[in-house]
Amino acid sequence: MSDHRLALSDKTTKKSIPRREDRCGIDVPGPFGLVIFGASGDLTKRKLIPSLYHLYQDNIIQKNFFILGVSRAEMSTDRFRDLMYRAVKEAFPKEVGRSSWKEFVLKLHYAVFDSAATGSGRSPLEEKLLPLEKKYRTGENRIFYLALPPAGSEGIIHHLGQAGLSREGRSYTRIVIEKPFGRDLDSARKLNTLLRDSFQESQIYRIDHYLAKEPVQNILMFRFANSIFEPLWNSRYIDHIQITSAETLGVEHRAGYYEKSGVLRDMFQNHMFQLLAVTAMEPPEAFEAERVRDEKGKVLRSIRPFPLDRLEESIVLGQYGRGKAEGKTVAGYREEEGISKRSTTPTFAAMKVWVDNWRWRGVPFYLRSGKRLSGRKIEISIHFKPVPYMMFSSRMDGLIEPNTLVFRIQPEEGINLNFQTKLPGSKICLESVPMNFSYGKDVLLDAYEWVLLDCMHGDPMLFVREDAVEQAWSLLTPLIEKLESTTEPGRFPNYAAGSSGPEEAARWIEKDGRTWRPL
Ligand code: BG6
Repeated sequence: MSDHRLALSDKTTKKSIPRREDRCGIDVPGPFGLVIFGASGDLTKRKLIPSLYHLYQDNIIQKNFFILGVSRAEMSTDRFRDLMYRAVKEAFPKEVGRSSWKEFVLKLHYAVFDSAATGSGRSPLEEKLLPLEKKYRTGENRIFYLALPPAGSEGIIHHLGQAGLSREGRSYTRIVIEKPFGRDLDSARKLNTLLRDSFQESQIYRIDHYLAKEPVQNILMFRFANSIFEPLWNSRYIDHIQITSAETLGVEHRAGYYEKSGVLRDMFQNHMFQLLAVTAMEPPEAFEAERVRDEKGKVLRSIRPFPLDRLEESIVLGQYGRGKAEGKTVAGYREEEGISKRSTTPTFAAMKVWVDNWRWRGVPFYLRSGKRLSGRKIEISIHFKPVPYMMFSSRMDGLIEPNTLVFRIQPEEGINLNFQTKLPGSKICLESVPMNFSYGKDVLLDAYEWVLLDCMHGDPMLFVREDAVEQAWSLLTPLIEKLESTTEPGRFPNYAAGSSGPEEAARWIEKDGRTWRPL
């Protein structure tokens, strides 16, 4: 069990400074019933049930709740409980306490459900829900979590609407939609329309789990709770911004989804554009979900459309070939199970984005994301302009490195401000040194725990609004369509697994007189 979790349950701990949870607190949500559609799938096992168990174990959710897993797969509740136990054990090998699991497992239920096979009359889902709601006294507060691909979600959304299960009375009804939210502008619009037929926007929670990562939440605090940075946060002082999400893992067991998706749909339409929006947005008039989402929406609307006739200026794509990861030879993308031998699906992209507004005019945002790279890293780095005049040039060799401010989102969460210092001695020697803030063990909840908790609280701040989804797709759809129609199989693979990506991406940014931060 990690230290912060110990601290949460150790009632006898006395410290001279207040404990973090005493100072900052985590509000415990009220009773709820959570229905997970796609309960036999990977996300339920890997993320949802382990996160819910963790919240329960840490006393962050109270006792009046139940979780009803549903899917088309035949399975008993006992079998479901058994599978979930194994999943939680795998996620937290050392942390599954016997007594807390014994209590938690009783909250887990399973039902076979196929929205296509429902007839008239009361929904079989409601038949399942009503006795559970009575038993656990959840006050009919309902969260429908769609852990499903978009095609699977449509029938369920339709069913919930038809069966009157989307209605709210004194209790609440919320629907959580996983990404990908559609696969292009048209499909995203269709999905939004379908949702709006039955639900109010305030009931809809579109997930982007990157927004729930603690260091991402902190970016707004850092920018707007400190007076020293915001005056510098513009094109006058900033040369460019890099946003990186690099993974060491390959496509894993998700070939079916990833082949049709690729890195632009999988990472850029959502995570990368959301990180950009949080970095570039104006201060909202209040720290309220709608105001924050308004400002993020304005950033997305200010992004300059990509020049389709000169895409090489804006984007470099890559696909990994065979290489080495952690000392072992690993397969290239086209050698992975379920992937076409001539696949043109990109697993890497580097993209230059211009935000055309007063603050950012002339400041490029370089976004980079890929699988099977040499390092696992998510970070946003702000690269300030060089000093305007090199008064030391007659007394020193070399250039003065411009300042950088780095938000380390994962791993080793924290912030670095890099600045120049003089090395001791009579010669003028400067060195760039970091001023470092690290969260260490203070990152209390992981992204999925936050997402679930905020939905239980009814706080949509960390979720993506309809307009942002459509705006991001309207920028990317023409770009993706053009790339898909012009990328020849011979172009890939163009980087080795375990490398820092295609060499072309390094040359491309160097043409602008800049270099990527190392992975
Ligand atoms: C998901 C993508 O949204 O994010 C995956 O579908 C990716 O392809 C994952 O691996 C990365 O998330 P995290 O939290 O591990 O950075």
